[in-house]
Amino acid sequence: MDSTGNETESQLSQSNRSAPATISSLSFKTLDSLKEAVMRLDCPLKRMANNTVFSDGPPSADIMVIGEAPGQEEDMQGVPFVGQSGKLLDNMLRAIGFMRKDVYISNVVFWRPPGNRTPTVDEVSFCLPYVDAHIELVNPKGLLLLGGVAIKALLRNAESIARARGTVHTYRGISAVATYHPAFLLRSPAQKQSVFRDLLLLKKTIQTLS
Ligand code: URA
Repeated sequence: MDSTGNETESQLSQSNRSAPATISSLSFKTLDSLKEAVMRLDCPLKRMANNTVFSDGPPSADIMVIGEAPGQEEDMQGVPFVGQSGKLLDNMLRAIGFMRKDVYISNVVFWRPPGNRTPTVDEVSFCLPYVDAHIELVNPKGLLLLGGVAIKALLRNAESIARARGTVHTYRGISAVATYHPAFLLRSPAQKQSVFRDLLLLKKTIQTLS
């Protein structure tokens, strides 16, 4: 433990390669060291996946997007949001004047659940300390949380997407806007207007911080 009570990187590399993440807080000095630790993790999901999907985009971005878990295409390429949902995410961002390269993208789970099923509570809990550390290191101006899994994981007491969306939350001091996942929008295009409003809210929020 360091002086803040966090497990240090060296302790982590010695002791935490395959342990479930029961520790609530991890501390890393750099994104590279966090990524290395994530790449060294071992869990059943990882053993079934082709790739660990860590992130895409510039860590200096104002907005960090957090989705659910990699799908088939993401698992093949090792990059988040490159399949159908990713294309819709790119369009959603374009609608508010952002290019994909302007945002930093990750997920609450680093490996594809078989058949694209929803990750279990245990799978999310296993990744969560690393996701928390990830957000802390990127320290964006605003977080965009896509879908119920990301919302429940990071806004620990959020009840549903419908209730969580439309307002600005705070995650560890960072403004966070929750909205529907692009995969849901592909099935329910009528919700595109709501998502557009949520994205504008996020844009306005980070502009007021500039
Ligand atoms: N859906 C997600 O939540 N994340 C991805 O990376 C791809 C699809």
